[in-house]
Amino acid sequence: MFRDKTCGELRLADAGRSVRLAGWVQRVRKMGGMTFLDLRDRYGITQVVFNQEVNPEVCGIANSLGREYVVEISGKVEERTSKNPALPTGDIEIIASDVKILNKSEIPPFTIEDNTDGGDDLRMKYRYLDLRRPCVRKNLELRHKMAFEIRRYLDSKGFLEIETPILVKSTPEGARDFVVPSRMNPGEFYALPQSPQLFKQLLMVSGYDRYFQIAKCFRDEDLRADRQPEFTQIDCEMSFVEQEDVIEMFEGLVKHIFKYTKDIEFADPFPRMTWADAMRLYGSDKPDIRFGMQFVELTDLAQGKGFSVADDAQIVVGICAPGCASYTRKQIDQLTDFVKRPQVGAKGMIWVKFEEDGSVKSSVGKFYTEEQLKEWGERADAKPGDLLLVLTGETMKTRKQLCELRLEMGNRLGLRDKNVFAPLWVVDFPLFEWDEETQRYYAMHHPFTSPNPEDIPMLRTDTGNVRATAYDIIVNGTELGGGSIRIHDAALQDEMFELLGFTPERAHEQFGFLMDAFKYGAPPHGGLALGFDRFVSILAGLDTIRDVIAFPKNNSGRDVMNESPSPIDDAQLDELRLRLVPADGEEKK
Ligand code: AMO
Repeated sequence: MFRDKTCGELRLADAGRSVRLAGWVQRVRKMGGMTFLDLRDRYGITQVVFNQEVNPEVCGIANSLGREYVVEISGKVEERTSKNPALPTGDIEIIASDVKILNKSEIPPFTIEDNTDGGDDLRMKYRYLDLRRPCVRKNLELRHKMAFEIRRYLDSKGFLEIETPILVKSTPEGARDFVVPSRMNPGEFYALPQSPQLFKQLLMVSGYDRYFQIAKCFRDEDLRADRQPEFTQIDCEMSFVEQEDVIEMFEGLVKHIFKYTKDIEFADPFPRMTWADAMRLYGSDKPDIRFGMQFVELTDLAQGKGFSVADDAQIVVGICAPGCASYTRKQIDQLTDFVKRPQVGAKGMIWVKFEEDGSVKSSVGKFYTEEQLKEWGERADAKPGDLLLVLTGETMKTRKQLCELRLEMGNRLGLRDKNVFAPLWVVDFPLFEWDEETQRYYAMHHPFTSPNPEDIPMLRTDTGNVRATAYDIIVNGTELGGGSIRIHDAALQDEMFELLGFTPERAHEQFGFLMDAFKYGAPPHGGLALGFDRFVSILAGLDTIRDVIAFPKNNSGRDVMNESPSPIDDAQLDELRLRLVPADGEEKK
């Protein structure tokens, strides 16, 4: 035994006790004949004191310690004269009688403290040191607590956790697959699962009724703050259920976790919004409803007055920013620059200021009378002092651009408080999404999503408007999870594949095992998957899911610590019967 107590547990009541602690040297301070050492482990920090006069030899060793040395300390707990209320152990200190160096450390490349001097890249390269920082550790502790409680909760509801394979069959749709070559089957590849979707449906056919899995998923897609190439889902499926049953079950889980981790109680059911309303009012299928500023359509008021930017547009739509009429020229220019950024893509922005004195100022004052602009204001419920920001163009594009502007205004006005949580279900998604480039329909969710039974007659006549029995749960503008009721009827599934442009042969080649399974008594079923990393990061108040993953990838999908992905040697390539083709302009090796 190197220790009998941790660095986080000693209190005033322990004064007088002899203890042994082990941990890392956070820092050493020499003050006169005394040396103070902050000793850190997973549980906290304890101050240790060495006295040159009483114990010169031990004090000499303490003075030689560097940052991050691993030491074992023996001593007596004493009440501190100058207490440190910032530390749970701040009422006591250890008067050291012995110190043993268990291991030395090189000088770490950054300080192991919450406010470190290490930049992102450096911290990721030395992630094992970064993980020592209390603020990072706190996130992983929360992750552990949540995973544990989610398992407990789902177990209490009769769910079985069943593992599904990691080496699976590559299927089209969704994101790109990561593929794994098979040595034993040269020329053939597995894929890593984008989700356990097909397996969980098969488990329903097998009669398992309530399945869940805290499952690793892999998607080769462009990365963002809330996307990693490998991430974790709380993946669930249930039999003999309708949309309402699934929503109720997982709203229960989400509420339970909010209560358990943050003591936040949601008394009412989470609000629901149709996809069409979400797009119309927020320009997004994941609206942040922590604040208002809903879209106001002004097309009819703006057109026909000789202003071609409005006349040529499919939609003229705005948001009313409360109290922002006082914005300076510079602030307005910043907003215009914001919407013109390539990531947003608007051509320009119209503004109308409703001044406190009742007058109106606008960038389009040349084209509209004050009376006409006041009508815009009335429609937007603008009060004196408010600023109306308006975009024009093609409907969907313009709504998405205005969504960005709305979120930017929300940030500027401090309306996106991380301690406020606004969950929401978005329902009635379209079943299909039309792709201009390939001139075909894609499944908006996945090809196993059931159409809304009311819309089945429209499948061929009004394909684009068929609603899916699909639902997403949104928290603070982040898609926390999504799911659907599945098709369990082989004939309807066949029709779906056909509408998605699969020949019967290709559908069979890709999904034959599922189609076959459906011939043997598939129960009605449905489910959902919550993004676990996103769930933890929302509750931890973080901006990126990287901070809740022990060993994350960077935005180029690289692990900068172990330098992967990395080339493999020729022998491995030969064994897999793979040959690398040089990229254009690259020399052949
Ligand atoms: P979907 O693709 O919507 O559904 O994924 C479910 C949830 O997983 C999270 N998520 C991600 N998190 C981090 N990084 C990523 N790259 C990433 N991609 C997705 C999101 C998302 O809401 N099989 C279906 C679920 C079902 O129908 O039951 C599925 O995977 O939080």
